[in-house]
Formats: sequence, C-alpha cells, structure tokens
Amino acid sequence: MQNDRVRNGELVCSGDHRYPIKEFVPVFAHELDYMKVFSNLRSQPAGTLPSTEQLDVQKLTSDEFARQTATSIEDLRGKTVLDAGCGGGRFVELLKSCGATVVGMDIDSTGLRRIGATLADNGNLHFVHADLFRLPFRSGAFDFIYSLGVLHHTPDPKGAFLNLARLLKPGGQIALWVYPKSERTPLSDAIRPITTRIPSKYLYWIAHIVTTPYGPLLRMPRFKERFRAMLYNARLPWHEEKYWRIHSFMDWYGPRYQFKYDPEEIQAWYSEAGLVDYIRCQYETSARGSAPMSPQANTRLAQVENEYR
Ligand SMILES: C[S@@+](CC[C@H](N)C(=O)[O-])C[C@H]1O[C@@H](n2cnc3c(N)ncnc32)[C@H](O)[C@@H]1O
Repeated sequence: MQNDRVRNGELVCSGDHRYPIKEFVPVFAHELDYMKVFSNLRSQPAGTLPSTEQLDVQKLTSDEFARQTATSIEDLRGKTVLDAGCGGGRFVELLKSCGATVVGMDIDSTGLRRIGATLADNGNLHFVHADLFRLPFRSGAFDFIYSLGVLHHTPDPKGAFLNLARLLKPGGQIALWVYPKSERTPLSDAIRPITTRIPSKYLYWIAHIVTTPYGPLLRMPRFKERFRAMLYNARLPWHEEKYWRIHSFMDWYGPRYQFKYDPEEIQAWYSEAGLVDYIRCQYETSARGSAPMSPQANTRLAQVENEYR
C-alpha cells in the first residue's frame, strides 16, 4: 500500500472475479498485438530516448484540450471523467489539478505504469489497463469522456465509440478527435502496408535513421517554415525535437489500423448513439455531444448498449 493505494495486489469483484493490480494499475486486458508499437516506444531504455515524462506527458496547454474537446478544464471540476486511450497520460496529467476524478484507460500498460506510479500520490487520478471493446465500467458511470487520437487506431472505431457512449450519465458529454480524410496522404498510404509489418523494435531504428539527418535543417530560421511544410506534405515528422520526430514517425507508420473520416461520418456516429447537442470542435474531425437528460430519450443508448454487449 502507498497513500491508501494498492501498489501490487489483486482486485476481487462480486462473483469472485479476480484481476491483478500491477504498479497501482488494475489489469482487465491483455496487450493487443496491433498496439505493440506504442508499448515498444514507451519502453525504450533511458538514454536512447528521453523519458516518458518528456515523450508523452508533453506539456500540453489547456488551449489544446479546448481545441479538441470544446471544453474548458475548469468546467470539469467535481466531475467523473474518462480518458479513453490515455497513452502515456499527458491529458490526464493536464487535468490533475482541475478538481475532477479522472480515470485514464489504455490497452498499453507501459505508459500506464509509468504515469500511474508518478501520479499515484494524486488521490483523484486513477489508471486502468483495459480494452475499449471490453470496458470494465458500469453504464452511466461518467460525466465526461474524451478519446483523442485513439479510435482510428482500433479495428472498429465506430463500435468503440458506441461502447463509450453508453458509459455516459444522462446529460454527460463525450468528445473525440480522429484523423480527417481531407489530409491527402498518398505517399504514406503506399508505404504503410510495408512499415506496419516491420516489427516495432526495427521500425524504431528506421525512425531514427530517417528523421535524424534532416534535424539540423529544422533549426535554420531561413529554411524552417518551408521545409516543415514540405515534410508535412510528405508525411514526415517536422518537429524540432528529435524525440517528437521519432514518436510521430512511429505513430504514423507503426499502427496497423489508421482509419480516416469526414466530419459528416462523425456526426452520424453521434446520432446513431442517440446523443444530442452535437458540435464540431476546432479540428474538422473533433466533436462533442451529450447524452440526453430524459430517460425516455436514452432508449437509443440502451439499444446501443445491448447491441455492443
Ligand atoms: C496515438 S496514442 C494517443 C494517446 C493519448 N490519447 C494522447 O493523445 O496522448 C493511441 C492510444 O490508443 C490506445 N489504444 C488503441 N487501441 C486501444 C484499445 N482497443 N483499447 C484501449 N486503448 C487503445 C493505444 O495503446 C495508444 O496509447
């Protein structure tokens, strides 16, 4: 135990279901093969890459959260919040002082354990190792759910979204961001069938080899902007910091699934889930909507719940 938290042990539920707790994180899932690229990246030994704190818990501003979710973190005070696919927990970290109870959930345990241990002293933050397709939460558990940059990496993004929507309390809100179709990526679309088959430990070294040589050019004031634009169009990382170039290369070329959407398709997910008050957030494929307040209007959510059980 540490500060009333179980560091390593077992969670025993009714019906005598037992789940291990490892480094403060209850484990409800196995790692998925198709997501190994993220765990490999997050488990690089110190020295080859900066620590997770630098890599994932990038100092995000609340402006970025607001851009993706149309929500100010101050509005989450007193709420129960789920970060679905929290990765290394950078958004959870951002919310740590906003007065909400925040649950960070991911299928990759590497990032969760690192961040879970760092934030274990913070009583309102919790981490859970679980799969979006087998969620260990009861329906209606959350006031606010967000899933940023996650669903497009799963085999069934809409199914995962509908699963999450049923976890909302009446009046609760869900926000997401997925890749837009509008970004033309013919070159990387042609290369990805090869790169996604390369074991992630080798892809990691390819990321080094590809993104290291042009690093100095990104620091030359005269070139910088034009060069960045070229790299962006070619779907090569344009960040000045080497670790972000590697992270971004792995994120784009590693995951097996990379679906892209039109805003209209996202809006259709929200209405299929029976959600109301749909708004498009600042990015074209970022959106937010709410579960209806009245129980009658929640019928569609109940149907969705049955379909996806
Ligand atoms: C690109 S990362 C984004 C992480 C985080 N939202 C952020 O913006 O920093 C995508 C995350 O989705 C998680 N993920 C993918 N499929 C999942 C699933 N079926 N269940 C839970 N998490 C999943 C991956 O493990 C990975 O950490």
